Amino acid sequence: METQISNSVNELKIENNENGEEEDDFVDPWNVTSKSQTGVDYDKLIKRFGSSKIDGELLTKWEKVLNQPLHHLLKRQIFFSHRDMHNILKMREEGKSFYLYTGRGPSSDTMHIGHLIPFLFTKWLQEVFDVPLVIQLTDDEKFLWKDLKLEEAKKLAFENAKDILACGFDENKTFIFSDLTFMGQCPEFYQNVVRVQKCVTFNQVKGIFGFGDSDVIGKISFPAIQAAPAFSTSFPFIFGNANIPCLIPCAIDQDPYFRMTRDVAPRLGYHKPALLHSSFIPALQGAKTKMSASDENTAIFLTDTPKQIKNKINKHAFSGGKATIEEHRELGGDCSVDISYQYLTFFLEDDDKLHKIKEDYESGALLTGELKKMLIERVQPIIAEHQKRRATITDEVVKRVMTPRKLNFNFTDKTNK
Ligand code: TYM
Repeated sequence: METQISNSVNELKIENNENGEEEDDFVDPWNVTSKSQTGVDYDKLIKRFGSSKIDGELLTKWEKVLNQPLHHLLKRQIFFSHRDMHNILKMREEGKSFYLYTGRGPSSDTMHIGHLIPFLFTKWLQEVFDVPLVIQLTDDEKFLWKDLKLEEAKKLAFENAKDILACGFDENKTFIFSDLTFMGQCPEFYQNVVRVQKCVTFNQVKGIFGFGDSDVIGKISFPAIQAAPAFSTSFPFIFGNANIPCLIPCAIDQDPYFRMTRDVAPRLGYHKPALLHSSFIPALQGAKTKMSASDENTAIFLTDTPKQIKNKINKHAFSGGKATIEEHRELGGDCSVDISYQYLTFFLEDDDKLHKIKEDYESGALLTGELKKMLIERVQPIIAEHQKRRATITDEVVKRVMTPRKLNFNFTDKTNK
């Protein structure tokens, strides 16, 4: 009999209302859509996915454990959901260690600002917890899903690694790997992949990911490859053969992979990975969709010039303002649908400034054009600075970080048992 893997894709899918019509949201690793202008209902998603809300109690505990202020993406509950974060904080209190794992599917040579979110947050986690980090570049996934040649997929992975490193990770505590290369370098990684493959049936991946009979078998077996880095024995040059718990920051679209991983982990004698889930930066056109790397007007890219950023925001950022200035002054704007305001919640760290902007926009004192200008002035330097840092990341730096090697961290100093 098959072991039940929680939450089949049907449970994640759009629900029917009493008239039998589809409503709600759809979230999986390849699609994120919502029928509502305010975007995905994340509370409902937590229930459907069976994760836990990042609530005030967890945040208070987290702040106490770290004894320093929390990242604004956490305070504002943009990272809104978790699995087993209480355990990670407890481990930290007890002086035990863990490692971080996140990733990127290199589908194009430029990433968009949505992709920055988990990486910027992971950088903070690496700093405050002082732990090693592994970053998976799933060039195999993109080869299987997209019209890409193997060599192109590998090249995109290498280029994306530069953007990732430009986020400022500690090189001595970070290992980035491309699946297409690492699989041939490390037998222990492949051994964990086949261990996972042996635990999950076709029916189960169909249920979790919605695969069909005509999907190529590479896709069907791929989830095991995204699962394996959650087990420390996949990286013997970093962890030896120690079984070290893992924490995975990502947006919630990646959760199906890790629900599967968590289900198989105990059967392999490994720890279930803990997770921190972020919400999505919506497309410029509004919160009904996620930004897409294949439609350049839906997103701000890390390669955009100041002029492109200005034009995109002015032209495409969905406004919660009223149709006329008079009406807007009288009734005020709606921050819950306004894309410029939404983006500022991700990128403007100053709570007081953000609060004042909200107040002024909702009262009608601040107009849409003025709000867009504030966003433009905030995003332009962030992207320009990113580009400056990226220009300093040479091929040699990338090669160094992508070489399997011991990281600057001694797990024998920590009592992990
Ligand atoms: P990918 O390349 O689609 O996305 C990379 C990371 O960015 C997150 N993300 C977003 N976050 C906020 N707003 C958005 N609009 C947005 N769009 C994407 C994703 O959730 C992800 O965290 N299969 C994965 C690569 C991968 C991975 C992992 C990701 C391999 N192992 C472990 C996270 C954790 C992928 O294609 O990601």
